[in-house]
Amino acid sequence: MEKLYVAGGRKLSGEIGVHGSKNAVLPILAAAILTDEEVVLHNCPALSDVENMRRILAHIGCRSRREGESLIIDPSGADGWELPERLAGRLRSSITMLGAMLGRFARARLALPGGCDIGLRPIDLHIKAMSGLNVAIYEDGGSIFCDARNIRGADIHLDYPSVGTTENVMMASVRAFGTTVITNAAKEPEITDLQNFLNSMGARVFGAGTGTIIIHGVSRLHGTEYTVMSDRIVAGTLLVAGAITGSRITLERVHKEHLASVIAKLREGGSTFEFGDATVTVDPPERSLSVGLVETLPYPGFPTDMQAQMTALQAVSVGTCIVVENVFENRFRYCAELRKMGANITVKNRVAVVGGVQRLQGTAVSSCDLRGGAALVLAGLIADGITTIGDVQYIDRGYYRIEDMLSALGADIRRTTETV
Ligand code: UD1
Repeated sequence: MEKLYVAGGRKLSGEIGVHGSKNAVLPILAAAILTDEEVVLHNCPALSDVENMRRILAHIGCRSRREGESLIIDPSGADGWELPERLAGRLRSSITMLGAMLGRFARARLALPGGCDIGLRPIDLHIKAMSGLNVAIYEDGGSIFCDARNIRGADIHLDYPSVGTTENVMMASVRAFGTTVITNAAKEPEITDLQNFLNSMGARVFGAGTGTIIIHGVSRLHGTEYTVMSDRIVAGTLLVAGAITGSRITLERVHKEHLASVIAKLREGGSTFEFGDATVTVDPPERSLSVGLVETLPYPGFPTDMQAQMTALQAVSVGTCIVVENVFENRFRYCAELRKMGANITVKNRVAVVGGVQRLQGTAVSSCDLRGGAALVLAGLIADGITTIGDVQYIDRGYYRIEDMLSALGADIRRTTETV
């Protein structure tokens, strides 16, 4: 079983490039099957979620090969439209295969999707939106079967701006007859990346990044070469690594506008920033101030995927902070692990009250989901002594060799394989 060992107390310094975005590359990989010509994708880190998505593509006959950070995808032989539980269950994003398979094969059967256990994660919004496109849906035990032979463009209003549902509607409708208008669409930058990717294949999609997305159906899409955006959550995590250790560091290959809500909170804590062409430098105080309130919201609000990392920073800041999780209902489990390190955190339902302490103590802790695991690594950077973090496989879903990134900045962190 792999663990991370972190010896706390080291200052960080220097520059680090941020890898490609997990949440952008996963739907883009699904969308690659909407053409039967070659797709070349750059900036695709070998995250375990990305490799699992490639397994899903391989299962339906879509071949891909990796050349460093690039993936060369050959969707010409794709002919499968069924995803079994053993594949779909590993990855919440397997749900975006629904829209992609309907767009390519006009039918799909998939087992209900998996992912980190951070809440109920139902798919009712996806189902309702597909019905709105005139897709017939049959539920059958643990799987759903969709028939899109009569799919047509339609006005789709989302009750909630769900990221995955917005992506699914875009993919299902991009080759459907007529125009689809999504209102109350998710505005996340990854939606814009999907739009740009689809348009590079000849699609006619407009409005991503706003609440209204317009998709004019086209009869075919062609192959493309595309570079995936950089990962704003990895960037945010690294900025917090700087802030929690009181260290000035510079991130390269970042879009500062994607980080606005995180930068605003770090500024409230006393950090200052410098911006260059695709670079962000954080210059934090020796010990940050508590920011008072962190409330997660859909983009451009504070991201739920940064909630745990920001809570780790609040745990050692000066003052008390209230953290409210509005997006997922079960995203505070890592707080029990932070408490083992001496953090003063009380959780009640979707609210955590974090009283900043002077010091944390290194001890043995375990990740229980991706971002919660990252929060434990951040806490380890500042804790006295050694922190060992188990269940690293959660962290590997979204951070490519987190120990290498942090070591490059001067942290004392390494991965070990222990037999148990
Ligand atoms: C995506 C991101 C995830 C991020 C989340 C919110 C990917 C691969 N994952 O997840 O990292 O945390 O956006 O920014 O891009 N919901 C329903 N019914 C549905 C669909 C969603 O109730 O049919 C609820 C979810 O349970 C959750 C909320 O809506 O409470 C947000 O979910 P959604 O925006 O769909 O997130 P994902 O696309 O799953």
